[in-house]
Amino acid sequence: MLDIIPLKKAFLDELNSITNLSELQQLRVKYLGKKGLVTSKLKTLSTVSPELRPAYGRAVNEVKDYIEEEVKKRGSLLKKEEHKKRILSEAIDMTLPGKFTPFGREHPINKVLYEIIDIFISMGFEVEEGPEVEFDYYNFEALNMPKDHPARDMQDTFYISEDIILRTHTSPVQIRVMEKRRPPLKIIAPGKVYRCDVDISHTPMFHQVEGFMVDTDIAFSDLKWVLESFIHSIFSVETPVRFRPSFFPFTEPSAEVDIGCTFCAGKGCRVCKNTGWLEILGAGMIDPRVFEMVGYNPELYTGFAFGMGVERVTMLKYSIDDIRLFFENDMRFLKQF
Ligand code: DAH
Repeated sequence: MLDIIPLKKAFLDELNSITNLSELQQLRVKYLGKKGLVTSKLKTLSTVSPELRPAYGRAVNEVKDYIEEEVKKRGSLLKKEEHKKRILSEAIDMTLPGKFTPFGREHPINKVLYEIIDIFISMGFEVEEGPEVEFDYYNFEALNMPKDHPARDMQDTFYISEDIILRTHTSPVQIRVMEKRRPPLKIIAPGKVYRCDVDISHTPMFHQVEGFMVDTDIAFSDLKWVLESFIHSIFSVETPVRFRPSFFPFTEPSAEVDIGCTFCAGKGCRVCKNTGWLEILGAGMIDPRVFEMVGYNPELYTGFAFGMGVERVTMLKYSIDDIRLFFENDMRFLKQF
């Protein structure tokens, strides 16, 4: 019966050095498990003499209950401590600044491109698109520029093969649309075009918006009204507009359209070469030859067409003097729009 006292003391010593729940569990097994030190004492009860047995049994059970109780107490203490430690280690410092992902923004070219599209949509135009890799036929032939036509030299073409090129302008979309649809047509065709040319006002890829209108009684005055309305909308109602005679193989008569210089307000500067005017687009009445190419009767139909460079419009709108800025991806530049 006396051996039960040292057992209790041994347990208490061990309990003192316990630092976590799993050690505590091991200690419980050591004393109270199936083969535990206290449990085995209970098993030997039958070997104790009958007179001593009740007292011995009571003493062992007391120790057993005591150990059970102590383990429970220490257990809940350790649980609390471990919880506290976890809370501390997982704590978030709410005062730290957050991690910001910079927002993307619209590229100035797209911004102006969508502005142009919106203005024409508001005037009742539809949007059509064509391929950037184009047949020589649509880019030149059908636009009244046969193989040896000198006007082809104006556009430094990227060739893919003898008959396939990167389109040098959006005008081929006129042909593609007219081939599959009948008038009345009121179309714009925005997109990328390619020319083998680089300097402060040219990049090998740039954007154009083509526009055209075909019906039985379209006149040059319709073209003037549409383009003046457009220019007054994209720049300002005060922007001066002038039509200057020009030549394009696919329009007759042809014109180039100028606006009052946006850099010097028409006074004359380096950008407008002291003329006070800047060219912004080409236009004209669709040549009867073009109508013949798509199977329209030129006696019945008339139409106008125009084409403008989106980079150029953007440069004039925001007084940007170097086209390469659009493609250098310098955030200091791009953030300003
Ligand atoms: N395609 C011409 C160019 O890229 C621009 C142009 C001029 C388009 C006159 C037209 C037009 O539709 O009528 O230089």
